[in-house]
Amino acid sequence: MKDKIYDLIATTVFGLEAIVKRECEQLGFSDINVSNGRVEFKGTQQDIAKANLWLRSSERVLIKLGEFEAKSFDELYEKTKSIDWENYLSTNGKFLVSGKSIKSKLYSVPDAQSIVKKAIVDKMSKVHDILWFNETEERYKIEVGLLKDIATITLDTSGAGLHKRGYRQEQTMAPMKETLASALVMLSNWRPDRPLVDLFCGSGTILIEACLIGKNIAPGISREFDFMKWPMFDMSVFREEKTNAYGMINDKKLDITGFDIDREAIKIAKSNAINAGVDEDIIFVTKDVKDVGLKNNFGVIVSNPPYGERIGDEDSLKQIYQALKILFKKISTWSVFMITSDKDFEKHVGKSADRKRKLFNGRIEVDYYQIIGPNPDLLK
Ligand SMILES: C[S@@+](CC[C@H](N)C(=O)[O-])C[C@H]1O[C@@H](n2cnc3c(N)ncnc32)[C@H](O)[C@@H]1O
Repeated sequence: MKDKIYDLIATTVFGLEAIVKRECEQLGFSDINVSNGRVEFKGTQQDIAKANLWLRSSERVLIKLGEFEAKSFDELYEKTKSIDWENYLSTNGKFLVSGKSIKSKLYSVPDAQSIVKKAIVDKMSKVHDILWFNETEERYKIEVGLLKDIATITLDTSGAGLHKRGYRQEQTMAPMKETLASALVMLSNWRPDRPLVDLFCGSGTILIEACLIGKNIAPGISREFDFMKWPMFDMSVFREEKTNAYGMINDKKLDITGFDIDREAIKIAKSNAINAGVDEDIIFVTKDVKDVGLKNNFGVIVSNPPYGERIGDEDSLKQIYQALKILFKKISTWSVFMITSDKDFEKHVGKSADRKRKLFNGRIEVDYYQIIGPNPDLLK
């Protein structure tokens, strides 16, 4: 089983496929293919462990067990039953089946789920000669996805979404998912030798993710994954990967600062940084953005300012934009990256972005405005 090659999928939210692909390439995965919301690749159990431990912006890692046309429930049943479930599931495991259906003849998701579950149980029954499964032990999250009559059957190796690193025990009002925060840092091309600032740090997610990147800490190093409980999985492979990951952490000195007007948010950010083991790497300061001064030293700002839809009223937003306008004029050597749903952001801060990228922060459609400052290396 250790050397078996699996078809794997790293799922992503809309707009982050290219970043997850880049991460997969950096991890050395092979046969990488990108489509909407997924990056597919081939890999061994070692790669499953690696992907879960190291992927920063992917949502979860799935094993693709089957992909086939299914225009009737009979077809769905037979083809699902033909999958070698006995090589993945144990007789004590809990088989949880979820589903989705888009533009398919089999549009009833509850029916598709029950058919898939029945096919799995019937196959396991036949192979193991057992009539009843107690389903008391380890969890197997199975999904049947129907898209234009093509069924994709997957098994989720991650369990809880990969954004759940484990360090964010407390959060402020509008926290950002850890996976998105790290993607924003990666998209900024920030390097650990440059100062990094979040002017509106809230629970500290962007900066904590930056520290994990800067110190080469695997984002999944402190959490559990569903595959760890599966008898089919060779845990020595995982232990080896985890030991390697610990060995790869560096002790680079970072220059990272977080500001927020809210004292309570700063307290939470500090406590999250402690949980993530990076509290010594970030300076957190309670400060209104209008009082923030920065040295003109080629730093990078990555921020998620308040925007009307969730928090912040019109008046305070006006003041924030005014403060940003003044600050941006003073820090001509900095690069600025801001994610907001405000379509008039550039107008408000008096600066045009060099690049814009459409993303989603949860369900909110946002733009990632990128104002690229001079490259410090070219000035040396
Ligand atoms: C959208 S939230 C940032 C969430 C953060 N990225 C996270 O993951 O938790 C915006 C933050 O801006 C802060 N804020 C609002 N007005 C501010 C101001 N005038 N100066 C500094 N921070 C401000 C709020 O307290 C809030 O924490």
